[in-house]
Amino acid sequence: MAEPSTASRPAAAAAAARAGATAVAHPNIALIKYWGKSDERLFLPRTDSLSMTLDVFPTTTRVTVDAGAAQDTVVFDGRLAGGERLRRITAFLDLVRRQAGRAERAVVVTRNAGPTGAGLASSASGFAALALAAAGAYGLAPDARALSRLARRGSGSASRSVFGGFALWHAGADADSFAEPVPVAGSLEPALVVAVVDAGPKALSSREAMRRTVATSPLYEPWARSSGQDLVEIRAALGRGDLAAAGEIAERNALGMHATMLAARPAVRYFRPASLTVLDRVAALRQGGVGAWATMDAGPNVKVLCHRADSAVVAAALREAAPGAAVHVAGPGPGARLLDGAGR
Ligand code: PMV
Repeated sequence: MAEPSTASRPAAAAAAARAGATAVAHPNIALIKYWGKSDERLFLPRTDSLSMTLDVFPTTTRVTVDAGAAQDTVVFDGRLAGGERLRRITAFLDLVRRQAGRAERAVVVTRNAGPTGAGLASSASGFAALALAAAGAYGLAPDARALSRLARRGSGSASRSVFGGFALWHAGADADSFAEPVPVAGSLEPALVVAVVDAGPKALSSREAMRRTVATSPLYEPWARSSGQDLVEIRAALGRGDLAAAGEIAERNALGMHATMLAARPAVRYFRPASLTVLDRVAALRQGGVGAWATMDAGPNVKVLCHRADSAVVAAALREAAPGAAVHVAGPGPGARLLDGAGR
């Protein structure tokens, strides 16, 4: 028998065929880094990681189920996406469709408020927003853990952007590899000052860079071991509101991660001259009595952890040190959430 036309379908089925959901999520910056996978397909990390979700650079994503479409359509920052970007989002939607027992294609419209692919965690906010919007559009209602697990399958760090404030992603096996909120002392009042020294897309993806590091760097295993100890120590520091201890641990963890990359064969190097200028300035701030500690991800940009009360002084120092850089002050931001029909 022929399929009934959309017009003759019951109203509820037709509405479901056009169902959509919009979600917003913020990037997170790891203080204890995720670097290296134990399972590439399942996005399982080799180590636990811990991050702060920011209150800047959100991603807003709308997913609309389109029963009549032969393939998914992705509009990314106002442009029709193709190539690797479309392939990655389609593969993620396939996962959501399998979980929902559905087959219809979707239209995804997504917009990043910050730069994309520049080591500013756009993939974390991006896949957290996509996971929540796609789950909503396909009629899934995951709890926070299930959502974190789902977001992880798009980009590992996205598992942490499901939550606001500080989050810990347990390496785990598939079912227990999710993030959860980490309580911190109310007196902590942290800020992250982000120095964007280069907003362009990175030359080597974090996926490829971590693969090469794990496979070839003699420094990888020692870093992974010490990262476990860093995590224990930073949790204690955050819990007692000791920003200086947390900052020192975060900085050594990040520089250690970059050391593993520099020792990879061939080397992976995200540092630029301007990154080093900013790192020097952070050290000088500390010598001058201002608590400031740097962290860097898979890109040349530098994020500086400090007390909220010092953030204006730190931002001014970074602007002076790197005049070409755009400097943003971020505080702890909210977890991923669905917007209502009016976009609120
Ligand atoms: O999840 P990905 O592929 O964006 O990798 C993130 C890797 C780092 O940003 C360098 C570290 C981290 O934990 O976010």
